[in-house]
Amino acid sequence: MIGIFDSGVGGMTVARAIEQCCPGYPLVYLGDLARMPYGPKSPAMITEYSHRNTEFLLRQGAQLIVIACNSAASTASSFLRSHYSQTIIDVIFPAVAKAAAISTTGRIGIIGTRATINSGAYEQRLQMARPDCEVHSQACPLLVPLVEEGWLNHRETKTIVKKYLHPLRDKQIDTLILGCTHYPLLKRVIAPRIGRRVHIIDSSVEVALHLKSILKADAELRTQLYDPDTPSRFFVSDMPSPVHGLAGTIFGRPVLLEQTDV
Ligand code: DGL
Repeated sequence: MIGIFDSGVGGMTVARAIEQCCPGYPLVYLGDLARMPYGPKSPAMITEYSHRNTEFLLRQGAQLIVIACNSAASTASSFLRSHYSQTIIDVIFPAVAKAAAISTTGRIGIIGTRATINSGAYEQRLQMARPDCEVHSQACPLLVPLVEEGWLNHRETKTIVKKYLHPLRDKQIDTLILGCTHYPLLKRVIAPRIGRRVHIIDSSVEVALHLKSILKADAELRTQLYDPDTPSRFFVSDMPSPVHGLAGTIFGRPVLLEQTDV
């Protein structure tokens, strides 16, 4: 199984993209809703949670791990890679590769949680992928709680998004990375406010395409993971009431959520 974790429902955007890109590969998803949000927490705390989440997924039979949380990817991926022998992929590298390839001016914006932006992980990787680029980052700490509340199209959400994007508009970026897996749910609010000509990179789509290319290149991994008869499972460590509606919105169908301790 492909194990996927996030702090909340945001990683379901990754699970959905993987489901569409790689049919027949069962998923085991964990949304750590009991401890979310991760964005305001320290790197040590996020690493500890990511460790527990990975242990849980491996106990459920995951043979490959997708860190579907930018906050965890930017602070805990080195620890997880050094600790486990399983293949671990994360949302940052594929989004960086895409941004570096498609930006014409090299002015690239990133929005994410405080943990992601403070880590500097996107800036470092973008500078490596494209040394001429000019990176502008903006932490948007209020967006994750708004998404988890299901406030996807409210007037207040639009006002807050506009305020966060204002400095990036001034920098005339031509590419914007959605550096948080919750933000694809706000894409329709973000796109008109950053400007229609700006390319928006959805890290959930890019990580799914990256996984597809890994599977294409590795026959042994394909054989290990391909199992169309096994159903995917979706776990959450808490079940606040908006979670069912959000999961349904993301997958376009009702999703059975199982509550668990991590
Ligand atoms: N979805 C997570 C991310 O990509 C963050 C959510 C949180 O702050 O818990 O960073």
